[in-house]
Amino acid sequence: QLPIVITGVSSGIGARTAQVLAGRGAALIGIDRNAAQTFDGVFIQADLSTPAGVEAAAAAVAAAAPQGIAGLANIAGVPGTAPWRTVLAVNVFGVRGLVRALAPLMAEGSGIVNLASNVAVQWRTVRDRCAKVALAEDQNAALDALAGDEEVTAESYLFSKQCVRFLTEHLAAELLPRRIRVNSVSPGPVATPILEDFKQDHGRDKVEGAGKLLGRFGEPEDVARVVDFLLCPESAWVNGSDIRVDGGPVAYRGSVFA
Ligand code: NAI
Repeated sequence: QLPIVITGVSSGIGARTAQVLAGRGAALIGIDRNAAQTFDGVFIQADLSTPAGVEAAAAAVAAAAPQGIAGLANIAGVPGTAPWRTVLAVNVFGVRGLVRALAPLMAEGSGIVNLASNVAVQWRTVRDRCAKVALAEDQNAALDALAGDEEVTAESYLFSKQCVRFLTEHLAAELLPRRIRVNSVSPGPVATPILEDFKQDHGRDKVEGAGKLLGRFGEPEDVARVVDFLLCPESAWVNGSDIRVDGGPVAYRGSVFA
């Protein structure tokens, strides 16, 4: 049985996804910058914020899975309270780098799932900007070029997740001939450690208001089940898509926050 690779397994949604997949008997390889408390599989400690870190993680996966892998869930992510370069490095270039590095190891029929966010629901209006950044050959040059661009640096988390939506479609097209599917999941506020950072970044009242409207915040379990579905053969005809898992605020009022 070929293993599935999951990033961000040491906390929140990634940790719960690992438990759900292990529960259905999947073999797992987990990646995180922080040590995992409990993880049922091969754990690789790596920092996905630099090309060298991504390369080291991919090399360790290749060594741990000489027969190849059956899927990849890019769940690791950082909030907008982190420096904007780190936000884009992990959330955009970490995802792109790991997909490109691990795709050659993937069996036909494999699924890739990227964690986007429901804040990025209107991403098509900035599609060209996303393409320019997310497809740039040189990560550091692309980030240097954004240094004076306040629209990006002040809203780095939003832009990073818009780029994830763009990359998901782009990579789905790129990998279609190899029969590897690429989809994204867009959660609303989920009760994990990152939520406190979202309150600081988007405004406490807005985030808590979303929780009140819905009666609760999302649980890691709510998202993990959908990630699991997108990695399974049962979702074989879902490709290049996004599934919003947010309890419904976008449906209710057309945007994430009032
Ligand atoms: P979390 O903060 O609980 O977990 C994130 C994990 O990513 C941590 O284990 C962290 O160590 C790891 N990570 C961060 N930077 C890394 C790096 N440079 N290298 C390796 N690992 C790194 O957050 P949560 O809620 O589990 O978030 C998972 C994903 O879901 C993220 O991509 C986040 O943006 C996304 N998301 C979360 C929402 C929420 O409300 N919790 C809402 C929408 C999207």
